Amino acid sequence: MVGSGGREHALGWKLKQSPHVDTIYFAPGNGGTENNQNISVDQIDQLAQFAKENNCLTVVGPEGPLSEGIVDEFIKRGLSIFGPTKNAAQLESSKVWAKNFMKRNGIPTAQFEVFEDPKKAKDYVKSVDYKLVVKADGLAAGKGVIVCNDSSEAISAIDKILIDKSFGNAGSKIILEERIDGVEASYIALSDGNTAYPMASSQDHKRIFDDDKGPNTGGMGAYSPTPVINEKMADEIQKNVIEKTIQSMKKEGIIFKGFLYAGIMIKDGKPYVLEYNARMGDPECQPIMMRMDSDLYEYVMASITGTLSKLPKIQWKKQSAVCVVLASKGYPNSYPKNEEILGLDFSDKNSYVFHAGTKKESGKILSNGGRVLGVTALGDTLQDAIKNAYARAGKISWPSKYCRTDIGKKGLSWGK
Ligand code: AMP
Ligand code: GLY
Repeated sequence: MVGSGGREHALGWKLKQSPHVDTIYFAPGNGGTENNQNISVDQIDQLAQFAKENNCLTVVGPEGPLSEGIVDEFIKRGLSIFGPTKNAAQLESSKVWAKNFMKRNGIPTAQFEVFEDPKKAKDYVKSVDYKLVVKADGLAAGKGVIVCNDSSEAISAIDKILIDKSFGNAGSKIILEERIDGVEASYIALSDGNTAYPMASSQDHKRIFDDDKGPNTGGMGAYSPTPVINEKMADEIQKNVIEKTIQSMKKEGIIFKGFLYAGIMIKDGKPYVLEYNARMGDPECQPIMMRMDSDLYEYVMASITGTLSKLPKIQWKKQSAVCVVLASKGYPNSYPKNEEILGLDFSDKNSYVFHAGTKKESGKILSNGGRVLGVTALGDTLQDAIKNAYARAGKISWPSKYCRTDIGKKGLSWGK
């Protein structure tokens, strides 16, 4: 398992339950994972050597190594690996590529223009009468998107990306796109390049504070399933977004294998793709893995071998699952590290504490990142799952612990 976040811990936890899986090695892993290898996610050569020596199937969590071509390199060396190739991962690594791809293939997305010249971009801002979102083309650790309230904010965003180069090369091109104010949800599928099976619907909570206040983060909590994506909407997204994406990629000569994540905005009953990710979401992965009844290993192998259609659709628990992220106060800016975390050695069958920014030192678990733990719980209803997750989270403590108190609330009040 390549990566060190809650997503990777959850994928490893689920894979470990498979009778086909013997040992899981994490590279580099965290304080909650086992068999950690001191290899970072961008050391592709060392990862490949390790995988070869230990006869591993490799599963890649984060976007960085995928966009660097880890899958291409492993395939070249005859190693078994799950995830998209570098070309296929362009859906995430270049927003310009992804937007143009959606446009030429009729996949629903906000209207947009691409600019390299700041003057032309600013003229465009003055020429439109709707609100804009300014996006850097490349990977910018989730920070390259600026949602603007008026034209002066859009102009500053253009300056920040194209002139101040705040995101370096990732911002040598920008997208100006129409802002869509609707409700957001995540739709993730597993593809073998031809067939795509839905994982489950989920909803992330991207802002740091309750009621979606404050700056964007990697995600402060998630729950699954979400009522925002009802059955009819799920069918529409599956057909018009996921299957259309996979088939259009194929038509263009690119086989997309792996998790395909569509960030969706729903407005007036219609879904629009805000972005693609060529990987699982984090923290969406944690509640999704808790609800998955099927054997993940079998589906991962079917994705690699292109035999997904031979397997039944993935089975899900009827229950809801909620993941509350426990972070270090100060995140997404600077925060303290190396604080001892207490209350982890309590277990119950309905919850699991996935580690993210933690490390183990002389038998103690210490905080080691912004997002520290993902406390994830099942419940018969969304309300029960919320209650169970917060009850479990309440037993954990360290000096700088911080979490949102409203994870899942949007799901409870939906339609009311
Ligand atoms: P992205 O990384 O493209 O998903 O953008 C980050 C966040 O910006 C999304 O989760 C949305 O909340 C917001 N966003 C992106 N594009 C738009 C859009 N066209 N309209 C409104 N909000 C958007
Ligand atoms: N939780 C959003 C993401 O993984 O990009």
